[in-house]
Amino acid sequence: KKRLAVLTGGGDCPGLNAVIRAVVKTALNNGYEIFGIENGFNGLVTGRMGLMDYKDVSGILPRGGTILGTTNRDNPFKFAVEENGELVYYDKRAEVLANLEKHGIEALVVIGGDGSLNIAARLAKECGIKVVGVPKTIDNDLPCTERTFGFDTAMAMATEALDRIHTTAESHHRVMALEVMGRYAGWIALHSGIAGGADVILIPEIPYSINSVIGKIRARQAAGKQFSIIVVAEGARPVGGEMSIARMVKGSFEPIRLGGAGEKLVREIEEKTGIESRCTVLGYLQRGGTPTPFDRVLSTRYGVAAAEACMRKEYNVMVSLQNDKIVTEPIEKVASEPRLVPVDSDIIRTGRQMGLCFGD
Ligand code: F6P
Repeated sequence: KKRLAVLTGGGDCPGLNAVIRAVVKTALNNGYEIFGIENGFNGLVTGRMGLMDYKDVSGILPRGGTILGTTNRDNPFKFAVEENGELVYYDKRAEVLANLEKHGIEALVVIGGDGSLNIAARLAKECGIKVVGVPKTIDNDLPCTERTFGFDTAMAMATEALDRIHTTAESHHRVMALEVMGRYAGWIALHSGIAGGADVILIPEIPYSINSVIGKIRARQAAGKQFSIIVVAEGARPVGGEMSIARMVKGSFEPIRLGGAGEKLVREIEEKTGIESRCTVLGYLQRGGTPTPFDRVLSTRYGVAAAEACMRKEYNVMVSLQNDKIVTEPIEKVASEPRLVPVDSDIIRTGRQMGLCFGD
């Protein structure tokens, strides 16, 4: 029998299990055998992998996380091994090739974000491994696709948080900021901000001026609104403090430590206006738990399409959503910069027409 394999890499994301389930079922339904690789690229290097059957994916559709496990450190080209209390880095591509050959695995489905898909592209280019990528991230910032799975769930979670934060803001006459994830992009902040009726949305793509934010709060006060709601993306920065995308450590899996944006903002607002201001950091709640119906459907479509690409031997591609169709794109295209929100996009115009303040 022909054999495929599947792994999940990088941070957990709602819909991972739905993709795994779809890949496994499609492979089995078409007479293929399929290996599940444990803990992302770690299992590919160390050989921790096993055949999967229908029972392994039964009941996992609504479950958060990944039944295969994941890490966001392991890179076969720079694989960390602890020796005498120190980390030593090795090139483990020979081990990867040997493990795939040992089990007769023809092609590998990599479900991951830019880090994992960059590694997959290198495995294809430099080692001749046949890969198919599936675009995963709550941030929605991967190039060559209109949607990554996980984004819809993160957006829904942030919207619910905004609905709840309104209660305290209104009762206590406060400025309440919600800091959401998104790395260098503002997709989650923008969409949840509009869905949750925020007054101010701060995203990395539009550097903000504190005076403009305060101006909006004051204008609301003058109109009789004693509270304001701000959504702030973790990557949002004031004018002059923008983060350079070049600082992204692509594919190296060094942790990106963002955060602090919301706290800094409310401190400044309180100092300058005297209005009680608070920040809530939504954090990993955006990544945990059950995927929305939209993400379950998208994940299933991606998983089926990835297995189909393997079966028709269309390799070294990433499945992608374009005009509501699943298509494929060359996987090396993912190595480009993150997909940011275009500042002239329709959704920003919508926000402006609604009187929202973007801090500019
Ligand atoms: O890419 C998903 C994401 O949750 C980002 O929004 C966030 O910046 C990052 O991962 C945090 O990752 P971790 O804390 O797991 O390294």
